Amino acid sequence: MRFLITGTAGFIGFHLARRLLDDGHFVVGFDGMTPYYDVRLKEARHALLERSNGFRAVIGQLEDAATLRQAADLAEPEVIVHLAAQAGVRYSLENPRAYVDANLVGSWNVLELAKACEVRHLMLASTSSVYGANDKVPFAESDKTDEPLTLYAASKKAMEAMGHAYAHLWKIPTTAFRFFTVYGPWGRPDMALFKFVEAIETGAPIDVYGEGNMQRDFTYVGDLVEAIVRLVPVAPNEGNRVTADGVTDTLSKQGPFRIVNIGGGQPVGLLDFITAIETALGKPAVRNLLPMQKGDVPRTYAAPDLLRELTGYVPDTSVPTGVRNFVEWYRTKRG
Ligand SMILES: NC(=O)c1ccc[n+]([C@@H]2O[C@H](COP(=O)([O-])OP(=O)(O)OC[C@H]3O[C@@H](n4cnc5c(N)ncnc54)[C@H](O)[C@@H]3O)[C@@H](O)[C@H]2O)c1
Repeated sequence: MRFLITGTAGFIGFHLARRLLDDGHFVVGFDGMTPYYDVRLKEARHALLERSNGFRAVIGQLEDAATLRQAADLAEPEVIVHLAAQAGVRYSLENPRAYVDANLVGSWNVLELAKACEVRHLMLASTSSVYGANDKVPFAESDKTDEPLTLYAASKKAMEAMGHAYAHLWKIPTTAFRFFTVYGPWGRPDMALFKFVEAIETGAPIDVYGEGNMQRDFTYVGDLVEAIVRLVPVAPNEGNRVTADGVTDTLSKQGPFRIVNIGGGQPVGLLDFITAIETALGKPAVRNLLPMQKGDVPRTYAAPDLLRELTGYVPDTSVPTGVRNFVEWYRTKRG
């Protein structure tokens, strides 16, 4: 199949593109190489993808509709996977403008593109952050998400809403994923795992927010990619409405639009996550216990039932295994 993926120099886009290329698909990767974190890591990811004959890179900003259009002309995509975004919860307090530009204007440009290309399936990356401080667990896709705590969450919720409107108006089959804390090799330097490993390796203290009492439903990147790949052929339509007992399908009555959590439903305490890192590194961490930060949520916990019904699959790599894989990459292959 022919794919246009935005964000292929990013953590998740890189892994998804690599998997699709291995499976023999044609992939055009669009990325702006933004300096939010070390651009050399993004370039190294793209360099690996460029070894494959089936890959073409287009460098450009989501806000630049003309360059995005060039990527689509090259791709002639059957499927668009929109992963490029200004990510990060905490950075949205420092630089809100980046979220408006990339996640609102940029995502709208992608919607326009999907409309023009008449794609078979548009897939949008949203986040568990849209659940805010939801205290009903696990988080089901049908839960209320009207109280975002950060502009990051608000911008992703807005993207979901814009996606729904376009699915309704232009009949674009659209799936919005809600990812839950994704980690693994080639991961993001702004996220806890990378930061903790970097600090522990050098004997520096690690900042542990919420005094370690937070929980996250960590999702191993290989599992996340498996879930996305399985969802590609499941473009939302009445024919695949889920009717299983106890599962609320989010398939809209107003258009071919569905929201799906991608998480394993196995939340892990931050302190247990740190223990897994210490074990993988064979070194103890020096913990600097700090209060919760503005915009942080105490817990994320995915209800994976809809994903299971749609794909027969639920992420299941354990944190110790996933962390070990990250440490191996960090120590030997990071270059
Ligand atoms: N990693 C997670 O835990 C997680 C959790 C929930 C949701 N998500 C979402 O998944 C998607 C991928 O996340 P990731 O972890 O791979 O992040 P990432 O930052 O590694 O990748 C995003 C990529 O998008 C590119 N980009 C950013 N702004 C751009 C713009 N305006 N124009 C063009 N390119 C731009 C960046 O250069 C980067 O390569 C994002 O939409 C993110 O919000 C990630």
